[in-house]
Parts: sequence; C-alpha cells; structure tokens
Amino acid sequence: MEYRKMGRTGLQLSVLSFGSWVTFAKQIDDAASEKLMSFAYDNGINFFDNAEVYSRGESEKMMGRILRKTGWERSSYVLSSKAYFGWRGEQNKPNQTGLSRKHLTEACHEALARFQQEYLDLFFCHRPDKNTPIEEVVRTMNHLIQQGKILYWGTSEWSGAEIMEAHMVARHLGLEGPAVEQPQYNLFERYKVEVDYNTIFRNVGMGTTIWSPLASGLLTGKYNDGVPEGSRLALEGFEWLKDKTISTERLERVKQLGILAAELNTSLATLAIAWCISNSNVTTAILGATKEEQLKENLKALDVLPLLTEEVITRIEAIMDTRPVQPAY
Ligand SMILES: NC(=O)c1ccc[n+]([C@@H]2O[C@H](COP(=O)([O-])OP(=O)(O)OC[C@H]3O[C@@H](n4cnc5c(N)ncnc54)[C@H](OP(=O)(O)O)[C@@H]3O)[C@@H](O)[C@H]2O)c1
Repeated sequence: MEYRKMGRTGLQLSVLSFGSWVTFAKQIDDAASEKLMSFAYDNGINFFDNAEVYSRGESEKMMGRILRKTGWERSSYVLSSKAYFGWRGEQNKPNQTGLSRKHLTEACHEALARFQQEYLDLFFCHRPDKNTPIEEVVRTMNHLIQQGKILYWGTSEWSGAEIMEAHMVARHLGLEGPAVEQPQYNLFERYKVEVDYNTIFRNVGMGTTIWSPLASGLLTGKYNDGVPEGSRLALEGFEWLKDKTISTERLERVKQLGILAAELNTSLATLAIAWCISNSNVTTAILGATKEEQLKENLKALDVLPLLTEEVITRIEAIMDTRPVQPAY
C-alpha cells in the first residue's frame, strides 16, 4: 500500500480507501461489511469513509459496531463522517439539514454516538450551504476541532471559489480552513479536480478523498450488456443514478477502454482506478464494494499504476475524450 500526505497536513492516508455509500446496511449486512473492512485493513487501507445520510445513519452504526468488534487500535485508522443532508430523509425538519452551527454540531455529536467513537478524524461539509454564512461554518468547524471532537475539517463538492472563500475567512479570523475536499473523480468526471481546484492545490494546498472512481461500477464494464440483477444500478430507488450514469456514448467508450485494459493484461476496473491515483493531487480514491472479490480485484490497481506510461495515458485520453479544457490564463 502507498500512503500519501493529505494536502499540507501531516496526516497520511492510504492511496486506496473504503467507503460505505449505498452498500452498508442497504446491500450488505454486518457480516459481509466486516469481511470487507477486514480485508481492506489487512491490505493496508487505513481510511474508512461514511456520512450521516448513508442508510439514514445505519451505515455509521454498522461501521461503528465493526470497528468495536475488530478491536483495531484507534490510532491505526482514519474515520470520517459528513453532514449536510440530515439522516431523516423526507422527515428532516428545519435545522436537521444544512451547515448551520446547530446542525453541524448536532450531526457531529450524533455521528460520534452512532460510531461509538470519541472523535472523528475527518468531518466534511457534504455540500455547500448557501443559507449559512461561511464565517459560521468556519467558526463551528474550528470549535469542534478545539473541543477535540474532530481533527480536520473538509468540504465535499464545493466549487473552487467556495473553498477559497472559506480559506480567506479562516485566515482573516486566524482559524483553520478546510484541509481536504471530497469530489467525484473518475474518467468521466474531471473538471473540479483537474481545473477548478488548480489554484487551491497550488496556492493553499488541499488533500482530496475522491469518490466513485468507477462511476458506480460503469467503469468495470459490468453494464456493457445491460444492467445485471443485484448490481447498484438495478437497485430500487436508484433509477436517478442509472439515468445519470449509463448512456450509449459512455458505454461505447467503456468498451473501447476494455480492449486497452485487455491489451495491458489487466482489468478495466483496475485500469480506471489506477488512472485516478496517477493524479498526484488525489490523496486517496475511496473504493466501494459489495463483494470481497471486487475489493481484491480493485486493490490490484496499485500494480497497474506503473503501466500508465505516457503512451498509455495518451491512448486513454483518445478513447475517453473527457479531458477538460484548461482556462487560457
Ligand atoms: N462525498 C460524496 O458526495 C460522495 C458521493 C458518493 C460516494 N462517496 C464515497 O465514495 C465511496 C466510493 O464511491 P462508490 O461506491 O460510488 O465507488 P465506485 O467504485 O464508483 O462504485 C462502487 C460499486 O461498483 C461496483 N464494483 C466495484 N468494484 C467492482 C468490480 N471490480 N467488479 C464489478 N463491480 C464492482 C459495486 O457495486 P455493485 O456490486 O452493487 O454493482 C460497488 O459498490 C462511497 O462509499 C462513499 O464513501 C462520497
């Protein structure tokens, strides 16, 4: 396993990590989740990602039970949660969502209780909140840090301008700005990581814990001939994700990429994950999995990384045609 420093912090994250969105407490039970987390941990993964909204809090409870059961030293892993969406779905009342001091503080306390933990290593603002002044967010996150309830704070899917504003306000107040961002990043979604955040990487420093490296499984080739039963995009309630993820044009590119992966004697999934972590601005790619074979396969991305020569990258770019345009300035 390779470990990368999270932006300009001293924290080291395994370059491949493991998250529980969709899977924990929805697709898989305690026993299966424990197997996956143990396999991940035994192979050097030290970061586990979660959020209040995942399975409406049940995902954090499940992960917390597993962490208790395994008895792993608390100092050997990094644990996150995210707040914004609330966990009650349609039952959310005012103040049970968003980034107000009230919700961020209560969400942190609730996550700690569900996880049965004394502190979170990373606490993310799961989305920007136009209804809360950024000063309130910065002050609240710093307060939670000072109380020892969280160690670092971050953002998820914020624009470069929003992150920069948080840094300006934090600097003005003598407080800590966000140390890490959690954006989607894969061979189809590249703009934020490759363009929008460039000035932040350069001038401020920022770690990234990128999500959906396989575009929910599309980049494994499993959807090339339809939607297999039991797969994520076949799940009831996830029709929106299926519509967003699958298109004829995307499938054509995935098929072409599969041919290149076969030429390299590797799988499409490992090639796609290796491509994500070939970007040095990526601290860690958060993997998702419902089966141990998937995780076993995806961890081989570390061996595929050296195969990504300039020539291979050029061929990937030609197939995908998703490289974002850099601004002229
Ligand atoms: N901050 C945010 O807004 C945000 C949003 C989304 C995710 N995340 C985080 O990022 C993590 C990873 O995202 P993700 O789960 O979308 O990652 P992903 O790697 O794009 O998709 C993972 C899913 O693809 C399928 N899969 C994975 N490897 C496979 C393989 N080798 N062969 C066949 N199928 C395979 C599995 O689904 P099936 O077996 O069910 O088909 C698995 O659950 C999440 O758990 C969460 O922690 C954060």
